[in-house]
Parts: sequence; C-alpha cells; structure tokens
Amino acid sequence: MNSKVEKALNEQVHAEFFSFYLYLSVAAYFTAQHLDGFSHWMRIQAQEEFGHAMKLFDYLNERGGTVELMALEAPQKEWDSPSSAVEAVLKHEQYISNRINQIVDLATAENDHATTVMMHWYVNEQVEEEATADTLYHQVKMVESSPHGLLMIDRELAGRPAPVSEAGAEA
Ligand SMILES: [Fe+2]
Ligand SMILES: [Fe+2]
Repeated sequence: MNSKVEKALNEQVHAEFFSFYLYLSVAAYFTAQHLDGFSHWMRIQAQEEFGHAMKLFDYLNERGGTVELMALEAPQKEWDSPSSAVEAVLKHEQYISNRINQIVDLATAENDHATTVMMHWYVNEQVEEEATADTLYHQVKMVESSPHGLLMIDRELAGRPAPVSEAGAEA
C-alpha cells in the first residue's frame, strides 16, 4: 500500500491505543473519587477505543500493509475535578478528529480511495464522540457544586451497555 498512508494509519493505531490508555486512566481516577458510574462509562469508552485501533490494525493487514506498534506514553492520572477529567476526554476527542481529517486529506491527495472510504467511518464516529463528550462535560460543569447532581449523573452513566462486538467497535 501507499507508504505515506501506511505510516499515517500506523500513527492512528497508536493514537487510538493511547485514547484507550487515557480513558482507562480517567476510569481509575473516577474509581478513586467513588464515582463508579463515571468510571464504568470511561472503561467502556476505553474498550471502544481499543476497537477503533483494532479496526485500523485489521485494515492495514487486509491491504498488505505492515502493522507497526509504537510505545505508549503514560497518560495523565490526576485531575482537579470531575469536570476537568471529562474536559480532558473532550479535548482529546477534538485532537483525534483533527488527526482523522488529516488522514482523509492525505488519502484523497494520494488517490487511495479505499482508505478515504474506510476513514469516513471514523469521521462519522468522531461527530458522535465529540457530541457525547461535550454534553457530558457541560452537564458535569452544571452540577459540580452539588454532590446530589453529580450522583444523579453517576447513576445514569452506570447504565451504559458494553460495546457489541468483541473488538469494541460499533461497526
Ligand atoms: Fe477513537
Ligand atoms: Fe474516541
């Protein structure tokens, strides 16, 4: 496959695994805060990121590319408040969306139509990911001064079902 696209996809595999790692770290933070619903939600979000990485991993193999796994840096582990932890997720999703748009631009410039089409799944997924993180961030901000409000959100987040496929992706 096109070597520039192959490199960009390998870097995205790394970025999705880092998302997995970061959200696990956020989950651990929430467990330490006794907000088990938030923790559960973040853990499922981490599983989804694992799925996103594996979908690219499989695609690289399918196209005859070489998968190159890179070292994962340690994610942040402490936040000042529940809202700043959720804000870290929102900021990270915005960063991921940017990267995905750049890969679509690259694949288009390189006439790699298969990659362009495959990456559209990620473009759509990011719309949902950013919207969900944005809503959660603003809701947590709204109630942060009231433990009652925070516990209500925690109870709601506890009900998030696990991803359907074993890889954690929704496709
Ligand atoms: Fe992702
Ligand atoms: Fe994500």
